[in-house]
Amino acid sequence: MSQHLTALLQKSYDEAPYASHPFPQSAPEHLEGIATLFGLTPTPPANARVLELGCASGGNIIPFALRHPQAQVVGIDLSPVQIAQGIERVRQLGITNLTLRPMNLEDVDASLGSFDYIICHGVYSWVPDSVRQAILRICREHLTPRGIAYISYNTYPGWKAREIVRDAMLFRSEGRATPAEKLAYGRGMLDFLAQMSPVGSLLRKALDEVLPAIETSGPAYLLHEFLEPCNQPLYFRDFIASARSGALDYLADAEPYTMFVSNHGAQVAEPLLKEAGGDQVVMEQYLDFLTNRSFRQTLLVHATQKQNIQYRLDARRMEALHYALGKDPQLDTDIRPAAPSAAAAVRAALETAFPATLSFAELCAAAQAGNKAEVSPSDVTAYLEELIITGRVRYTARARACASAAQVAAGQAVMHPAAALQPDLACNIWHQPVNLSAAEHALLLRLRKGVQPPGAAQNAALLERLRRFGLLV
Ligand SMILES: C[S@@+](CC[C@H](N)C(=O)[O-])C[C@H]1O[C@@H](n2cnc3c(N)ncnc32)[C@H](O)[C@@H]1O
Repeated sequence: MSQHLTALLQKSYDEAPYASHPFPQSAPEHLEGIATLFGLTPTPPANARVLELGCASGGNIIPFALRHPQAQVVGIDLSPVQIAQGIERVRQLGITNLTLRPMNLEDVDASLGSFDYIICHGVYSWVPDSVRQAILRICREHLTPRGIAYISYNTYPGWKAREIVRDAMLFRSEGRATPAEKLAYGRGMLDFLAQMSPVGSLLRKALDEVLPAIETSGPAYLLHEFLEPCNQPLYFRDFIASARSGALDYLADAEPYTMFVSNHGAQVAEPLLKEAGGDQVVMEQYLDFLTNRSFRQTLLVHATQKQNIQYRLDARRMEALHYALGKDPQLDTDIRPAAPSAAAAVRAALETAFPATLSFAELCAAAQAGNKAEVSPSDVTAYLEELIITGRVRYTARARACASAAQVAAGQAVMHPAAALQPDLACNIWHQPVNLSAAEHALLLRLRKGVQPPGAAQNAALLERLRRFGLLV
């Protein structure tokens, strides 16, 4: 049965390859920052061995390999068509530290070696049970002692309503031969249900919740999320139970602000803190019910690391990180810092430096320079803690640099090594995909190291856009 499903999946991804692009929340630099915040000491990504499971054509792992020529990177995917596309891309970009292999995850054995980071995005829920088990086995057997695994999956309770819609689309598209036909019939079912479902019915509520996501997504997402033979959501606590049975344990969510109950107000926080009794997994499962969560990105470590994890934020660890914050018009409304003038100076410094990071020492210096009265470092830490808990600030274990406006004007800026991923898609210093116009892409290519830079004056506006996108260093 599982072999039959795997054959169907391979056919499906060969026929309709996934649009493969960077996922910032899965980047090893991001995982390193989170692990450091919570008390661990992971391997620096620049020299790490990194494995991506179900990497499609490598859109997520290629920019990482470009950013870190000293890292050793491996990507595996079942679909030979997608892997062939990735290998061609790797050849065109001249990458030598990345190997892409067409392979079933169930066949991975000790010969693959060990890895400091294992990434598995958009696979776990979309494969048969035997492959889900293989993913956890690979993490257990191939993660180095301080290694971090990232696995994303669909979750209940959010997927309960979506399943109704998926089941209806599957029902209508059953037996259709090609992906295009399946899509057309599935969409037809949605139109029918949207027109005919009674106002106020459970079905109508499910459609209201799901249709906006469907309408804004491309055909590949729709096919693989709603019309694929496999899509098995699960409760967070069941995922963690499976991980624990394989001697792995929970580190954190890839979006750590979702872990803090204080974001839900005292009325929610107080009873839940009592109920969970200090158990982070129980607490987050309660929050999943409360927020009707439908997707998770979970970081796992070896169970032996569990004793080193500290969820209570600590000034010393926060002071070791580097921070970035873009303009956020809502920030003043949402956060009322205890020391407003220090917070305002920190924020102004971060906004000016963005998309580059500033260290804690640089933030303290900026806070002092912007204030007549003495600024205590603890005022800066307190503000950073609020920004971290509410998910407003980015933080990393190492500084991230980008070109300043002055460097661009002086013709000293060059393209970030991972920037020119595809003609219409770039990857910035934060591992975010950036859509480019033809003019922006052409200009970016002229800023490659060793290429004569274009005259800054006539391209000033375009160059500033590329700089603010984090594509120039
Ligand atoms: C939904 S796609 C996600 C692709 C990519 N990780 C992303 O998020 O863009 C799932 C991927 O898992 C791969 N896959 C499914 N079953 C697999 C297996 N048994 N072994 C290796 N890869 C598998 C598929 O070929 C497909 O590329």
